[in-house]
Amino acid sequence: MKYISFNMIRRKRTWCYILVVLYPFICFYLWSSDKKAIRTIHEKQILSPKSRTTTPSQTLRKKAYFQVNNDIEGPGQKGSGVTVKESNLDGEDLQRYKKGYEVYLYNSYVSDLIPLRRSFPPDLLEKECYDIEYDSDLPEVSVIIPFRNEAFSTLLRTVHSVLDKSNPNILKEIILVDDGSNIDDLKTKLKLYLSHLPKVNLIRLPVSKGLMTSRQTGINNAKSDVIVVMDSHLELAPGWLEPLVQRIKDDPKVMVFPKMGGINRDTFEITSSKLQDPVFLVTFDFYMAENHVPTKSEYLNSRPSKLSPIKSPGIQGMAFGINKTFFQSLGGFDLGMKVWGAEQFELSIKVWQCGGSIEMLPCSSAAHLYRNVAWVKDLDKERPNNNDRVIAVWMDDYAKIFQEMGGNKTSLNSGDISERQMIRKRNNCKSFQYFLDTIQQYVHYYVPVNLKAKGMIQHRETNLCVDGRTNSFFPKDILVAYPCHLGGGPQYWEISANDELRHGMLCWNKKDRNVVTVPCGANPNQKWTYDQSGEIIHQESGLCLTLLAQNQTLTLENCQKLPTQTWNMQRT
Ligand SMILES: *[C@@H]1O[C@H](CO)[C@@H](O)[C@H](O)[C@H]1NC(C)=O
Ligand SMILES: *[C@@H]1O[C@H](CO)[C@@H](O)[C@H](O)[C@H]1NC(C)=O
Ligand SMILES: *[C@@H]1O[C@H](CO)[C@@H](O)[C@H](O)[C@H]1NC(C)=O
Repeated sequence: MKYISFNMIRRKRTWCYILVVLYPFICFYLWSSDKKAIRTIHEKQILSPKSRTTTPSQTLRKKAYFQVNNDIEGPGQKGSGVTVKESNLDGEDLQRYKKGYEVYLYNSYVSDLIPLRRSFPPDLLEKECYDIEYDSDLPEVSVIIPFRNEAFSTLLRTVHSVLDKSNPNILKEIILVDDGSNIDDLKTKLKLYLSHLPKVNLIRLPVSKGLMTSRQTGINNAKSDVIVVMDSHLELAPGWLEPLVQRIKDDPKVMVFPKMGGINRDTFEITSSKLQDPVFLVTFDFYMAENHVPTKSEYLNSRPSKLSPIKSPGIQGMAFGINKTFFQSLGGFDLGMKVWGAEQFELSIKVWQCGGSIEMLPCSSAAHLYRNVAWVKDLDKERPNNNDRVIAVWMDDYAKIFQEMGGNKTSLNSGDISERQMIRKRNNCKSFQYFLDTIQQYVHYYVPVNLKAKGMIQHRETNLCVDGRTNSFFPKDILVAYPCHLGGGPQYWEISANDELRHGMLCWNKKDRNVVTVPCGANPNQKWTYDQSGEIIHQESGLCLTLLAQNQTLTLENCQKLPTQTWNMQRT
């Protein structure tokens, strides 16, 4: 019979004690070395090395907040579209359908059919983004949502989207600012509904003060030092918030914005495109029009991963995040602007010129509902003044070029800008030249200098002008001949140092016998010569711009030095 000595038992017990005592330490060691390895991988692949300021061992890391499914039973689940045929409606339904488009400029009838909570289309999510880890002690965020006469269901879908898709540990509050809405649904009914939601505050402006004041009121009331300002017709992807907040935590002078998809205004389908090379980023051209410019491939490929932040010349106004202290030190929004248009240009320029930077974060995803028309009807009347304020305060000598392209404006109608100029001085902000030099590291941005000729292109015989009907959103228009209006804009052309005939970011392009405008660089054969005789010659084909007198059409014909082929343009 085996006999176990007392000593043996004691020895076993001692070993047992030692193991029990050491066990947590061993576990902790293994766990933390794992953690460290994962962090190192993520830092190498995802975050730019410079962006890390905290020492790795101090902060625990967590993946982005992700709820798989927020769908409530109903149409439009997972961001799908809902098609309603007008011809199938009658009575009250038909009335509501028609009134929706009239009042809201989108299909509020369909919006009302879709439940207030739904998930983002799963196939639009960048899978790798959900492996990234963020600091577990990210600062709290105030989300500010101004609105005016938004459809009840669209507004609340935005609010629910913020509540559902944001990490609750960092979402401090949602501040809704009602810019004097006068729709019944948005009165008591809204207040009642919101009283059942956590974290939501409602501020009402008794009369409409415009978008800038609404946003600024929300910002002034925000309790957190990190703010996100967004439109009231947005839907968000899960985990949209962490990437924004992490970057703002790491760098208090960075302004960030999500990758923006769309919500179809007729069906409410959420759409988006995957990241491409080049990525097109939003900015303005020298006509003060919003325009998209391609990133430089060298820059794009030099980043640690395709999901790393992308430096951007500008922001999209519909959603952006920033450190509130930094934002306020730059004077906040320019309340001298009454309507939207140009405020995002001002913000972009001053962030860059005053020591900050702007980034698009591919792992933060959202979708925006593009309506038919603008926030305020008199937008066209007010917007030029907005532009002039930005030009006068921020653009130094380049103001002359902007004025010329806007139709030889001799003076800027900017109103009182002394306070804005003080902000620039107080913050020691750099020059507009610095802005241009900096963004050109990241994107192909065209500056109209060293031109060969510029201004209107006038037909010598008929005095008609070449008109592009250009609009950054509708390129590919065929050129036409219209009476000259001396207002610049679509009748203002530039022959660049390398022979492109352009209007900002759009270039003349031969298409069969027509000339169309397309984004510059899309075609290598976009070179033109303005000959001494007054002919405008497409270099590759040798054909000449010709005005067909009978129907005032522009075509390309063999050059014969005919009066129909003779044009005036100012050489520089
Ligand atoms: C915001 O910026 C200020 C000034 O640089 C800084 O003191 C503060 O810590 C920043 N806040 C956050 C949440 O990063
Ligand atoms: C602007 O003024 C210059 C010189 O006065 C003139 O040559 C040019 O055609 C004008 N441009 C426009 C767009 O009117
Ligand atoms: C203009 O006239 C020409 C020659 O008569 C013809 O070929 C062309 O199709 C016409 N263009 C338009 C837009 O009517």
